[in-house]
Amino acid sequence: MATGAGQPLASLIRQKKDILANISDFSCMPRISLHTFTFISVLLFLVGCKGEDTKKEKPDPNMLFDDPHSFARPKLVTADHLDLVVIVDFEKRVIRGNANWTIHNHGGADSLILDTDGLNVDEVRVDGKVVQFTVGPEKEFLGRPLSVPILPETDQVSIHYETSASAKALMWLTPQQTAGKKYPFLFTQSQAILARSWIPCPDGPGMRFTYTAKIKVPEELMALMSAGNPVEKSAHGEYSFEMNQRIPAYLMALAVGDLQFAEVGSRTGVYAEPVMLKKAEYEFGEMEEMLLTAEKLYGPYRWERYDLIVLPPSFPFGGMENPRLTFATPTILAGDRSLTSLVAHGLAHSWSGNLVTNATWNDFWLNEGFTVYFERRIMEEMKGRSYSEMLAQLGFQELQGTVQRLSTVDNQPEDTHLKLNLQDRDPDAGMTDVAYEKGYFFLRLIEETVGREKFDAFLKKYFEENAFKVMTTEVFVEKLKTELLGSDSVLIDSIGIDKWIYNPGIPANVPLVSNERFAAVDSTLAKWRSGAAPKDLTTKDWSSHEWLYFLRNLGTGLGAGQISGLDAAFGFTKSGNCEILGEWFRICIIHGYKTVYPDIQKFLMEVGRRKFLKPLYGALVVTPEGKNWAKEVYKKARPNYHSVATETIDKMLDWK
Ligand code: BES
Ligand code: ZN
Repeated sequence: MATGAGQPLASLIRQKKDILANISDFSCMPRISLHTFTFISVLLFLVGCKGEDTKKEKPDPNMLFDDPHSFARPKLVTADHLDLVVIVDFEKRVIRGNANWTIHNHGGADSLILDTDGLNVDEVRVDGKVVQFTVGPEKEFLGRPLSVPILPETDQVSIHYETSASAKALMWLTPQQTAGKKYPFLFTQSQAILARSWIPCPDGPGMRFTYTAKIKVPEELMALMSAGNPVEKSAHGEYSFEMNQRIPAYLMALAVGDLQFAEVGSRTGVYAEPVMLKKAEYEFGEMEEMLLTAEKLYGPYRWERYDLIVLPPSFPFGGMENPRLTFATPTILAGDRSLTSLVAHGLAHSWSGNLVTNATWNDFWLNEGFTVYFERRIMEEMKGRSYSEMLAQLGFQELQGTVQRLSTVDNQPEDTHLKLNLQDRDPDAGMTDVAYEKGYFFLRLIEETVGREKFDAFLKKYFEENAFKVMTTEVFVEKLKTELLGSDSVLIDSIGIDKWIYNPGIPANVPLVSNERFAAVDSTLAKWRSGAAPKDLTTKDWSSHEWLYFLRNLGTGLGAGQISGLDAAFGFTKSGNCEILGEWFRICIIHGYKTVYPDIQKFLMEVGRRKFLKPLYGALVVTPEGKNWAKEVYKKARPNYHSVATETIDKMLDWK
């Protein structure tokens, strides 16, 4: 959808301020017809209406929480706006510059305390004057508190700093580690508490602020943030960003690389390295429809645009819901749109998580359980109930596996509660499938108890009333009991709310999921078990979900002949779908099927997504021989992994 001026409409909309400022230039462009002009004006107006500004709203003091993973004290002082002015230095692999905070001292505090981790702070100014600051001792997992003396009326605190070479949020990539192989790349991953390793900030999910940023990068690269974004490279590598809606620090994000933009719909688009762009455009072609579907379910999208960036394969997650710009792994580019529930997940977070945010990481299920529920409702609308039920059933299997592992092998049954206690622990350690899937099944049970219509109305209102606020498990439970269940003790007891939230394991009243598509896979599996040759099995029209279910239920104790027979018939080793590859390689490792080890090595060298690394390295370390091989591979692969992945795998391999 290009205009007569040859610029994509989306870019015109996003530059609306400049356009309006230069309205005379705009209106004298001869190639824009009156019709196009009117159309654009209406669109600008609509976008303008949606763009909210929560800057002026002061946080509600009753909704400020002390956070077990932050040194900040929001009840005394809030840091309300960040103006970040930094240079991204690829040579030294550091970010350097100023974090200028607008603060509000409510409680008559004599100091502002911010979180830092590995930052080199060299100067702090308070209302323009240089002051003596202190950086306290390091606390395990949390980093160090930066303490700045302030007065009751202080409102500007400016910190000049540089990140360390090993900043945990930052992943610096050589050209070789990118798809295009020509330019370096940088991306950040701030969740859960890594924002403090690249910005001195109040780093708790319950502490929100607006931000503006000026970022200087090498001229040939584009910079993108969790904010209003450019669609083209700037002439001198200078980029300005604005995020006028209050967000918590874990949603601060930056990506810098050789990037290009392609529009998907009027509010959606993708960024990727040029060589990946076509593939990404196809894979995410349904984004606009997804956005409309989500809005139909739970109310207006409050963040203006929804774009997605495809990162290099070392990105440690499937997706990260940075506002306005979901960061995604390239491993979802399966070529057949089979993994787009991940986009639905990122989009759903624009309500659950980004709009209504877990108060502390102990309430993580409020972010993820709601998002999985919402994600599956989107998929149901778009692909039908049998499709979303496949996702739910795969999720249930994952939940069973995780609960089993946490209760027995890891001996951490408390981590199977929905409400967590992560005090004095790395929050990342408690973030498991329990939050996602037990959370999902709890919400589904409520839906099935009260009926979908009532539950949807309740959720819509919940997102509306709590937008840009934080939520605790306790406040949510209270709302649930009074607003949805009408304080009806029979209903409340039948759900067993407290059991779901504060007790371990999967309660007996968990909703049952079954669906005909997996039932068909079960009968195919039964035939194979009773000796049918792979080529004679009925697998026509199976989606990757059916294949995944098939692989997960093959069982153990397979012979080499069975494995090679399956691979010869179905070509798992060469699959373009990372979910299938991950599961297949795990099966091969468990059965010591060495033929595919070179392929496994290649996969481990390329892909840094923790979800795949954990089960593969985990299966390898079981035998001494496997562990040795894993270490050899890891030595070469480790530079391709982000710190959140190496944190996990280092422990598994006793890496020093
Ligand atoms: N916010 C999470 C990723 C995350 C969780 C980062 C905890 C750091 C700490 C994201 O929304 C997510 O859940 N990603 C999943 C996507 C999947 C469930 C579709 C992932 O990466 O696998
Ligand atoms: Zn999520």
